[in-house]
Parts: sequence; C-alpha cells; structure tokens
Amino acid sequence: MVDRFAPNFFLLLIKRNKKEVPGKLFIFAKKMQLALRELWAYAEAHSTEEQQVLKDLIRETHLTRMMPQMLCGRIIGNLLGLLSTLQRPRVIVEIGTFTGYSTIQLAKGLGADGELHTYELNEEMDDIHQQFFERAGIADRVKVYYGSALDLLGDLHVGVDLVFIDADKRQYPDYYKLIAPKLNEGALLIADNVLWDGKVIEEEANDPETLGVRRFNELVAQDEAMEKVLLPMMDGIMLARKC
Ligand SMILES: C[S@@+](CC[C@H](N)C(=O)[O-])C[C@H]1O[C@@H](n2cnc3c(N)ncnc32)[C@H](O)[C@@H]1O
Repeated sequence: MVDRFAPNFFLLLIKRNKKEVPGKLFIFAKKMQLALRELWAYAEAHSTEEQQVLKDLIRETHLTRMMPQMLCGRIIGNLLGLLSTLQRPRVIVEIGTFTGYSTIQLAKGLGADGELHTYELNEEMDDIHQQFFERAGIADRVKVYYGSALDLLGDLHVGVDLVFIDADKRQYPDYYKLIAPKLNEGALLIADNVLWDGKVIEEEANDPETLGVRRFNELVAQDEAMEKVLLPMMDGIMLARKC
C-alpha cells in the first residue's frame, strides 16, 4: 500500500541522483519509505473505518482476482465517498469498476432516484459485482456496462454530476473527450493516478501510459470550462469542477 501513498518517489530520487553516493542515497530512500509507511498507517487509523461489506470485498478481491492492488483502497475510497456525499449527484459515471470497491464508495452520495453507470472491460467481474452491490444495498441504482468505455460511453444520453476515471491510463485523454461534453454545470471530475509514479515529470518516460496521463492532464489544464486542482497525494488525483 505504501507505494500508492508514496508512489515510487524514492525511486525517482535515486534515478535523478545516480552520480551521488548510491549507497547513502539508497539508505535515505529506504528510511523515507519506512517513515511513509508509518504515516500511511496513521492516516488510515484517523480515517473512517470501512463498512463490513467493503472489508469483505477487499478480502474477496485478494482471494479470487488478479492484481488486487488495483483497488483504490481506504484513503481514496473514503475521499470518493466524502466527495460524493458533498456533491449529492443524481448521475454518477465510473470508468474502471474492477471489483466494485470504488463503486460502493461513490454511491454514498446517491439519492433514492440516483443512477450510477459504471464501465468495466472485464466481464468476469460480473459475479462479484452482483453479490457485493446487492449486499451494499445499491444494486437497484447501479448499472454495470461490460466492454470498453470508449465504445459504450457514446450511448449514455444523460447529464452527469460526478465522474470517476480509473481505467486504462493510455485512454485517459479519450475518456475525457467523451465524458466532458456530458458534464452538467457544477459536475465534479475525479481521476486517479495522474502522477503515474512520478513519470509525468521524467523527460525520458515516453511509454503509452505516461503519454496518456500527461495528455489527459494537459487537456484538463487547458479546458477553461473546468476549475481544477491536481492533488499531489498518493499517485496523484485530478479534481475538477465544471463551471
Ligand atoms: C485500477 S482498476 C479500477 C479499480 C477500481 N476503480 C477500484 O478502485 O476498485 C482499472 C479497471 O479498468 C478496467 N478497464 C481497462 N480499460 C478499460 C476500458 N477501456 N473500459 C472500461 N474498463 C476498463 C480494467 O479491467 C480494470 O478492472
């Protein structure tokens, strides 16, 4: 978990200072990592405890799915829940459901007539979604679309009050181009991993994921219709509001 809190910044530090005494730098980076681990535990201990259904979902995800580290976790999850509660959205869109942890958190601000449209490429998540959305009491308001959000978002004909982007980093700019015109005035946009392990500032990092995240950040930054802040916490969170 600590790598999500301090996403490889210490590796970035080592890479950038290759010529300096490598041993000393490594020890410093390790100490920094340990300190961050403690800070992480402290932050979790002072954040709302997850509902039992979310704890069970984390366990189930670790037991039965590949790459459980894709779960956004308690800190980001709580942030999503809190922002949703403050926003009181009628329509929520989520791009990248995975096992549905962030979906359950996002649904916290949804009223009885609300809709949450969530997009997941991998339809093998179907069983876990059904079971846990039912248990969380949100199954009647959540519609899961299996397939690529790039192919499916065009069919969504409803104004959106909150969107959470957390899928393929290469496709972030395209998700943005598809969702931005659907945002209602005052809508909130949240996107995870927008610092991408710090690679966004590494000139030599030109892999498709880094390029995608950089382009997305540029698009949001240049969009005058959006009021935004890129939060340098964890792996970077873009928070923007349609003016
Ligand atoms: C980081 S995980 C999402 C984690 C989830 N938001 C959570 O916090 O529990 C990214 C998910 O996006 C899905 N994905 C990747 N490309 C996609 C696409 N084009 N459309 C929809 N989902 C996609 C992946 O299958 C994966 O489950």
